[in-house]
Amino acid sequence: MFAVPLGDDAELCPLEPWQAGEFLAHMDRARDLVDEHIGLAEAVTDPESALALLTAYARKQAADSGRIYGIRVGGTLVGGVLFRVFDARAGNCEVGCWLEPSATGRGLVTRAARVLIDWAVEERGIHRVEWRVSTENAASIRVAERLGMVREGVLRAEYLHRGRRVDAEVWSVLAPEWRAARHSQEALRHAP
Ligand SMILES: CC(C)(COP(=O)(O)OP(=O)(O)OC[C@H]1O[C@@H](n2cnc3c(N)ncnc32)[C@H](O)[C@@H]1OP(=O)(O)O)[C@@H](O)C(=O)NCCC(=O)NCCS
Repeated sequence: MFAVPLGDDAELCPLEPWQAGEFLAHMDRARDLVDEHIGLAEAVTDPESALALLTAYARKQAADSGRIYGIRVGGTLVGGVLFRVFDARAGNCEVGCWLEPSATGRGLVTRAARVLIDWAVEERGIHRVEWRVSTENAASIRVAERLGMVREGVLRAEYLHRGRRVDAEVWSVLAPEWRAARHSQEALRHAP
């Protein structure tokens, strides 16, 4: 299977309906961490629901309205990144992510999200990349900061999670900001 190297034996790979069994086994390992803040694990509880979620994303990909990718370490599925929303005509997308506990603290999601944002901005002409995150999700907020995103504000009681309305921060990076940050990183890398 083709893959984008993320360094340290990690790679970003397609995640497709035929991998539903592996996706469910991974989500069972990730469930406690993911359940804290988002509904992804609640939507993947048995082989049928795992297949349904990956099939929904395969349909989104066919319609160019969303995509999902797996992060593997040493071949094992340990997390992923996705375009929850993708609208090339409007120039907007929203990126999301998750990991199982064994894969946190290594920068994997930050590096994987950079690959998605580079592709969205440089190949698909996306102008605005959004990140929506619970105000209580400090780890995900740190990812948005590392990606150079700007905190725009809070959507109060924006979604229902485990019986409670949750406030969501909206973060974003715009294409010119993304390119400027990439160019200054390149310049630093090539500095004498
Ligand atoms: C959100 C989530 C994916 C963040 O995981 P994470 O491991 O903190 O994120 P990354 O993979 O980008 O790793 C960053 C961490 O690795 C460290 N790190 C090590 N090497 C690094 C590198 N080369 N580059 C960047 N970070 C690196 C960072 O310091 C950071 O740790 P810190 O936050 O303690 O400072 C994880 O908490 C999760 O799955 N949560 C549940 C699902 C969820 O909330 N999803 C987001 C919904 S909005």
